[in-house]
Amino acid sequence: MLQTPSVTASDAAAVSQTMDAATTAATAASGSSGRVFIETFGCQMNLADTEVVLARLAEAGYAQVDTPEAANLVLLNTCSVRDHAEAKVRSRLGVLRIQKRANPGLKIGVMGCMAQREKSDLLRRNPHIDLIVGTDQFVHMPQLLAQLDQQQRVVATDFGDFEARPWPAQRAAGPNAFVPIMRGCNYACTYCIVPYTRGAEKSRDPALIETEVRAAVAAGHVQVTLLGQTVDAYGKTLGDGTTLAGLLRRLHAIDGLQRIRFITSHPKDITDDLLHTMAELPKVAKHLHVPAQCGSDRILRLMGRRYTRDDYLRFAERARRIIPGVELQSDFIVGFPHESDADFADTVSLMETVRFNWSYVFTYSPRPGTPATRLDDDVPEAVKKDRCHRLLNLQMSHQTAQYEALKGATRQVLIDGPSSGDPLMLHGRSEGNLHIVLPRQASDGSNRDHLIGTIVPVRIERSTALTLFGDIVPT
Ligand code: SAH
Ligand code: SF4
Ligand code: F3S
Repeated sequence: MLQTPSVTASDAAAVSQTMDAATTAATAASGSSGRVFIETFGCQMNLADTEVVLARLAEAGYAQVDTPEAANLVLLNTCSVRDHAEAKVRSRLGVLRIQKRANPGLKIGVMGCMAQREKSDLLRRNPHIDLIVGTDQFVHMPQLLAQLDQQQRVVATDFGDFEARPWPAQRAAGPNAFVPIMRGCNYACTYCIVPYTRGAEKSRDPALIETEVRAAVAAGHVQVTLLGQTVDAYGKTLGDGTTLAGLLRRLHAIDGLQRIRFITSHPKDITDDLLHTMAELPKVAKHLHVPAQCGSDRILRLMGRRYTRDDYLRFAERARRIIPGVELQSDFIVGFPHESDADFADTVSLMETVRFNWSYVFTYSPRPGTPATRLDDDVPEAVKKDRCHRLLNLQMSHQTAQYEALKGATRQVLIDGPSSGDPLMLHGRSEGNLHIVLPRQASDGSNRDHLIGTIVPVRIERSTALTLFGDIVPT
């Protein structure tokens, strides 16, 4: 159970009115009852899009079911960021082909980044797909399904049709709500498919975002994670001086909201104003996910990242000076074209200098149509894998040491539910987004599930490379 947030009745009524106005058209669009199964691949933006689709479909009379077998509509919300992500969808589509043979009434829809990238080409290879819905079109899902009642196939992949209004979202229970504050990306990193699948950057109106956050809080979510590909660049495209720092101040005032996060930041867009605002506002988690990607200037240039190794190191130093105790997290790509041993050594040394408390490490995956595919993908697969293991091991050794050093320290932990690995434990996140696990029962034997959705002080007792273990500080 989530703690009931302190939102006034009039707040909640105002939000629900706005939502009602926003969704009347969809409710009118299709009266058909259906059973939808949706599987989501990729990043949190896709998760958030899925939650909007589910809300739109619920208004149109669809019930969500837990298996594709129980459904008459299966939707795959897809990711194109690496070939591996697309391979998973291709294999799912293979299984669905067989299922559709047994059940010809089943409708299959593909949405998300792969739908946007491949458009009707996906249909040529997979004639069992009925519906292709692009990344700016999914909000019209009920209307597209109504169209599908009239015609054999529907392909909707136009950009620029994402309406500026608050969208209702059907979220899983839990303290966190993902709220997209911008769509698309105006960078052009040479390896990256996202600008092709999500289009140009469009920051959303702060008033709409506030409405969505208030609705999330009214529904019992005490944390919001603001989403954007370069979330720290939020506001630039609005051209009226709107910034992420300003948005954080505005959202900070919402009663009942306890914690605010934002992902993912680009190193070039982190201003001192943003860092000072983070330091100042107690509800903003002291956590920055700012992918470095690599530590070699030569490779950063080939990647089109628009900063140098030195710029990155200066950012890390600035962040730690302005926000004492801030936790820094990163993404890395190894095996980019022409990456030599010396370039890789620069990445290792960057990681050693900064010492992140969490990093994702990926091997380079050429994406069709991106500028990097004009470079020879010349790092052998075995070398890519070896560099990936080495960098991950280094990251793990940093985590092990840093988490070990936290023994005896206290962290403010937002409890999000039972631990997935051990039902006798509860799981939560520190401000720095670290995984923290504590007993589900207090020492007097009482159950602590009432703490789910609250922030409690936890003293760290022991750790592994991935998780901290502790118990609530007695008051
Ligand atoms: N917008 C975010 C992240 C987008 S994709 C940002 O700019 O930081 C998430 C991560 O996937 C990236 O940070 C990068 O590390 C990785 N990635 C993106 N394209 C990739 C590719 N072609 N091959 C391997 N990893 C990739
Ligand atoms: Fe891709 Fe670069 Fe945009 Fe991130 S900033 S989404 S890596 S193009
Ligand atoms: Fe994947 Fe698209 Fe997200 S490519 S990582 S689902 S923006």
